[in-house]
Amino acid sequence: MILSAQNLKKSFEDRELFSEVSLCVSEGKKIAIVGPSGSGKTTLLNILGLLETPDEGILEIEGLKVHTNCHKIRNQKMGFVFQFHYLNSDLTVFENLELPRLIKGEPFSRQEALDLLKNVQLEEKIDTPTKFLSGGQKQRVAFARSLVNNPKILFADEPTGQLDQNLASEMMELFLKLPQAVVLVTHDRQFAAKMQERYELINHRLVAW
Ligand SMILES: Nc1ncnc2c1ncn2[C@@H]1O[C@H](COP(=O)(O)OP(=O)(O)OP(=O)(O)O)[C@@H](O)[C@H]1O
Ligand SMILES: [Mg+2]
Repeated sequence: MILSAQNLKKSFEDRELFSEVSLCVSEGKKIAIVGPSGSGKTTLLNILGLLETPDEGILEIEGLKVHTNCHKIRNQKMGFVFQFHYLNSDLTVFENLELPRLIKGEPFSRQEALDLLKNVQLEEKIDTPTKFLSGGQKQRVAFARSLVNNPKILFADEPTGQLDQNLASEMMELFLKLPQAVVLVTHDRQFAAKMQERYELINHRLVAW
């Protein structure tokens, strides 16, 4: 088991977002989470990815209990494709991809970058500052970047939000083909239906469908 969450609860200022949320993610498993806007999907993903703290509940990564701000675990085992891509717009595509590796203290080659960019058909943009890319291209760079440190588990928040139908389908196929476990938040139930496990965050609970 890569990740196990038991009985997570989160409130903001007395307003309960969700409680009794439990989720297990095994190697390579593809999981989708849908739910209305504001139901807490991003918050839940941030908690699972150790970026936010739950009010209650237990999180274990590979059998070990963890706490938020475990930078090392996050950097070594987890990859993120955020709802808003958070690329550094002045840096080139290559430099953006290189960042997570530099943080890890290891070198990153152009060939590695090209291999990752080939997957998302952006090889020719390797030296382009990301501010000159379209929203969809940025989203694909963010996808490539999430894989730079070869994580065990990938968290993706609306990764197809800015893509047209064709690119969105291609992106979903890329997620499904990954060897990594994936926890993906999407508004698109058709895409979610392709994943191995599907949940809905609704009425303050996470329910399987
Ligand atoms: N740091 C915070 N402080 C207070 N309230 C917050 C905070 N973060 C999120 N919220 C609130 O929690 C609720 C859930 O937010 P969240 O972003 O998790 O929803 P979501 O399901 O991802 O929505 P969407 O589908 O629109 O992205 C919202 O009402 C939001 O305003
Ligand atoms: Mg969200």
